[in-house]
Amino acid sequence: MIENRPLFSKLDDLSAQIAVLGLGYVGLPLATVLAEAGYDVVGIDPDQSKVDALNRGTSYIDDVETSQVKKLVEAGSLRGTTDFSEVKDADAVSICVPTPLRKTRDPDLSYIISVAESIAPYMHPEMVVVLESTTYPGTTRELLLPKLIEGRNLIVGEDFYLAFSPERVDPGREDWTTKNTPKVVGGITQTCTMMAAKFYQGAMDSVVPVATAEVAEMTKLLENTFRMVNIGLVNEIAIMCDRMGINVWDVIDAAATKPFGFMKFTPGPGLGGHCIPIDPLFLSWKLRSLNYTARFIDLASEINTGMPRYVVSKVQQALNDQGKALRGSRVLVLGAAYKPDIDDVRESPALDVIGLLQQSGSVVNYHDPYIPELQTDDLSLTSVPDLIKAVAESDCVVIITNHSQYDYQAIYNKAQCIMDTRNALGKIAGGDPKVVGL
Ligand SMILES: NC(=O)c1ccc[n+]([C@@H]2O[C@H](COP(=O)([O-])OP(=O)(O)OC[C@H]3O[C@@H](n4cnc5c(N)ncnc54)[C@H](O)[C@@H]3O)[C@@H](O)[C@H]2O)c1
Repeated sequence: MIENRPLFSKLDDLSAQIAVLGLGYVGLPLATVLAEAGYDVVGIDPDQSKVDALNRGTSYIDDVETSQVKKLVEAGSLRGTTDFSEVKDADAVSICVPTPLRKTRDPDLSYIISVAESIAPYMHPEMVVVLESTTYPGTTRELLLPKLIEGRNLIVGEDFYLAFSPERVDPGREDWTTKNTPKVVGGITQTCTMMAAKFYQGAMDSVVPVATAEVAEMTKLLENTFRMVNIGLVNEIAIMCDRMGINVWDVIDAAATKPFGFMKFTPGPGLGGHCIPIDPLFLSWKLRSLNYTARFIDLASEINTGMPRYVVSKVQQALNDQGKALRGSRVLVLGAAYKPDIDDVRESPALDVIGLLQQSGSVVNYHDPYIPELQTDDLSLTSVPDLIKAVAESDCVVIITNHSQYDYQAIYNKAQCIMDTRNALGKIAGGDPKVVGL
């Protein structure tokens, strides 16, 4: 009976001590939700600046209010540290470290390995460990579990509990949050599932226990592959519509009136963010090791990664129609973030579009109210200070990110030529030939 285990009662009355490992876009909101529920939470991160900010009661993640963090820190229910030995006092541990791809597009699980090695010495009986980082099926059982118990006499499902629970947060979204988005949980054993579910039930509105850790790992990859493939499909529909002279946005709006059997996805300059362009590649990588080619993923990836080049070809065509060459033209890119109203440039197609425009000899500037500086391995740019002046002085404006605070009427009025990859101008353009779309 799981109810008779010592950990169960601590989770039941919320007296359990929680450690959240990794205080980024996923970890900080999670730590906040757990602390708000009444748990005593410590966030552990090697990044001293994040730990210091947390301990000052300051949020550095848009989705979390500073007032919320401040209240919890002052109440003593949330704090940060760089000291992994605090795990020895933790009853529950959530791991929210990055899982990027290497340059070769293979999964880089070094952060999971490193965190496992950091906490292994402090593993103790009656604790639950949950991996939240997105990864390929099998990681929790085949990679994390052996690292956690290396050289220790701890039996999973009996002495301690291990599960996977995918984070599903959509940064910038207010209706579905860490707290009210159903939390899928799958353990190494059934007892592990039940204990991890109990942990999250204390703080989340709804928990969905599933049969195994692998089901939970695969669930996340299905969700993000579904998005990636459908975005790839609608991007190709946009290219097809362009060939036929049909407005793709009119087609999508009309199709979306169907009350069943259709889900609206919109085309754009390419995929961005830490999840949709990357997560499905975990799956295709894993399948390659099993001699299977994930064809939908490969095809969608090919179409989506081709979109920045397609956008630049449309800019070239639009300038050509005005008797100008891409080389030497002043091009202003609006929006560097990968989606509206956030400050995240990870994998943003804006970076590719800017790079390709520069390679073609254009003089490129950008504006983004959320991103004052753009520093990457290949780019070093500063957002133009006066948006409308820069619009007026540019040969072409390329709308990459449709931030809601932009005054699109003013941009339209002043621009000589606009490539609108998001249909941000909508009806404003009214068929004006100076505005082109995908
Ligand atoms: N950002 C999202 O929208 C999102 C959504 C769902 C799932 N995810 C997944 O969640 C995971 C975390 O993503 P994120 O966006 O929060 O990343 P992030 O880069 O914002 O945060 C990760 C944090 O982990 C810290 N860290 C690095 N090594 C560590 C270690 N050894 N121990 C403890 N902390 C360590 C980093 O300093 C950083 O603060 C990834 O697997 C990601 O795919 C992200």
